[in-house]
Amino acid sequence: MNTNKTVLITGGAGFIGCALSQELASSAARWVVVDSLHPQVHPDRVRPEGLHASAELVTGDITESATWDGVLAHVRPDIVIHLAAETGTAQSLDEASRHAAVNVVGTTRMLDAFGRHGIVPDRILLSSSRAVYGEGRWLSAAGDVRYPGQRSHAQLERAAWDFEGLTPVPARAADNVPVPTSVYGSTKLSQEQILAAWVGARDTALTILRLQNVYGPGQSLTNSYTGIVSLFSQLARAGQSIPIYEDGEITRDFVFIDDVAAAFVATLRTARSIGTATFDVGSGAPSTINELARAIAQYHAAPEPHITGAFRDGDVRFAACDVAPTSAALNWQPRWGLDAGIARLQEWIDAQLASPAEMLVAG
Ligand SMILES: NC(=O)c1ccc[n+]([C@@H]2O[C@H](COP(=O)([O-])OP(=O)(O)OC[C@H]3O[C@@H](n4cnc5c(N)ncnc54)[C@H](O)[C@@H]3O)[C@@H](O)[C@H]2O)c1
Repeated sequence: MNTNKTVLITGGAGFIGCALSQELASSAARWVVVDSLHPQVHPDRVRPEGLHASAELVTGDITESATWDGVLAHVRPDIVIHLAAETGTAQSLDEASRHAAVNVVGTTRMLDAFGRHGIVPDRILLSSSRAVYGEGRWLSAAGDVRYPGQRSHAQLERAAWDFEGLTPVPARAADNVPVPTSVYGSTKLSQEQILAAWVGARDTALTILRLQNVYGPGQSLTNSYTGIVSLFSQLARAGQSIPIYEDGEITRDFVFIDDVAAAFVATLRTARSIGTATFDVGSGAPSTINELARAIAQYHAAPEPHITGAFRDGDVRFAACDVAPTSAALNWQPRWGLDAGIARLQEWIDAQLASPAEMLVAG
């Protein structure tokens, strides 16, 4: 990244924002984070240790115009990285307005504020999600493309987990029609469309990174609404058997945080082109939940995971992506396999939970 750039990062005190700050903040002219320190993510409401020392933190809510007017009176961003969001996929079904307010209206408030202050950033990066695909593309035995849509509550009650006769295909931004099946996914798609429309009318550049399931050091150990890898890790670490939904054959692409940060860095190193470009960011090697749980249980020598047969409405059966187009366009490769990533995360969790603060609680 060019060192004379001013970078503004919404939600930059979160998991991905802190990792990015370690990679990039010291090489920017200014690295300005606007973050509300949401209590579900930051229970102590203090500046996270993982945020690089050179980052300027403005504590503020992106849904409020006053936040933006305060920030933009002093900051003229060349690059905007839009991370701030409500991220609870299952939670979004019951708290739809909360997700729409931050993810959709938060985005439009930001753009309106750019308009008021006469700002058109050189480029905007949006951290979008695989949730925009919903169940994605599947193939029939005859090779016909199908979008099976959402599994109904009645279907899940019958334990009919799969779409009979269909085989899933890893998503590709250029080929998949987004069909979100969660309120969260719908708000992320809305962010994409709103930003694309704004950027298109102002002849500037938007890069959308659709992230798969990100995990690794720095992820929340307390937010029960996100982060299955962290949840499983803490259960296995406590010597418990990990409970597994459905039949454990739900598939996800778990991508390590360093690979995600590297994808943002690669985007910023790639020459900007006017308009919108969309890329998938994953490990390229999907795993079933059974495989994930067994790997974590084995690491901790915990009892075998157990299938509960329970399910969550709105969960998709299969989520993975083809990273080849992203690798070719951004000169980026995922480097972390699941076993190495899990081991690294467990070491980090051990270090966190052995800290004086926890011993104080435990004592
Ligand atoms: N972590 C993943 O697996 C994953 C996967 C796909 C997409 N994403 C996307 O990446 C982005 C960052 O995710 P993350 O994992 O770092 O999440 P996170 O929850 O750790 O970070 C989000 C940050 O946004 C802040 N925030 C929330 N509401 C805000 C508001 N109204 N105003 C200002 N700040 C606000 C929070 O305080 C938090 O620091 C999100 O847009 C998310 O949708 C994440």
